[in-house]
Amino acid sequence: MANRAEHCGGDTNSEPSLRPLTPNVGVEISGIDLARLYGDELVFIMNALNTHGALLFRNQRLSDENLVAFSRNFGDLDGAPVNENGKTAVPGLPELYVISNIEGSDGKPVGSLGSGEAAWHTDMSYLENPPDASVLYALEVPAVGGDTWVASMYAALDHMPANLRKRIEGRAIKHDGTYNSGGYVRQGLVANDDPLTSTGALHSAICAHPRTGRPVLYLGRRRNAYVEGLSLEESDALLDEMWAHATRPEFCYAHKWRVGDLLMWDNRATLHRRDEFDATERRLMHRTQIRGESAPRAL
Ligand code: OGA
Ligand code: MN
Repeated sequence: MANRAEHCGGDTNSEPSLRPLTPNVGVEISGIDLARLYGDELVFIMNALNTHGALLFRNQRLSDENLVAFSRNFGDLDGAPVNENGKTAVPGLPELYVISNIEGSDGKPVGSLGSGEAAWHTDMSYLENPPDASVLYALEVPAVGGDTWVASMYAALDHMPANLRKRIEGRAIKHDGTYNSGGYVRQGLVANDDPLTSTGALHSAICAHPRTGRPVLYLGRRRNAYVEGLSLEESDALLDEMWAHATRPEFCYAHKWRVGDLLMWDNRATLHRRDEFDATERRLMHRTQIRGESAPRAL
């Protein structure tokens, strides 16, 4: 990969710049064409992801190959799962996920998550090594709705009341693997709403972030979650308090999409959710996921 400074000959007008989107999470990066990335720009982007948890790039024009190539700079990519409609990835691009309500010629959506709300979650926290980051690129967006929200779990932990923190410290949470974030049963599984017996992984609630080492809250998703060692009633009560705190508006950024936007989130430092939108409108997002190299590490 070339060095941008050499390539641009010191053109200061197009230097990358940062604009925080909220005090606690998210930054817009301008002055970078993600289809032609230089080595020093990549370092800039990685540092921004570590600091701000979510990155917004506007006015991009990326082919599917560009999106995959950009994402590979951050690590190996996960293959797209078979989605709730039994469909796999785009032929020839197994790393590309489609998030969409648009129906194909078979009458089924070409992608995941439909047009309903996607509840707060981190991606695939039911895996032993959950993904490191996700990249979502907008190709078609509805006029209103379908906003994607991101919440900082650094901020949630930093501002957690001491008595609440004490109750979760040293505990592990079971992360359910039955349902995806749209509430659909994952391929090959059967519905199970008992947190004690549903499939999933156990992760420490408070972790050292795998890249930054910073203490971070790791909640995953609320549905079928369970705090190990508590009765189900105690666990539900504690989790409800945790979630109400972690998703307080001051920890969040809500993104209104335009075509050509790319949003990348640190999947180990943030939660995200999506607003519903009118089912008769079209929303088409292409997406990649950077593989996690380690299990969440207890703090
Ligand atoms: C995702 C996701 C929300 C959205 O891609 O992991 O949760 O806005 N998407 O489509
Ligand atoms: Mn998601």
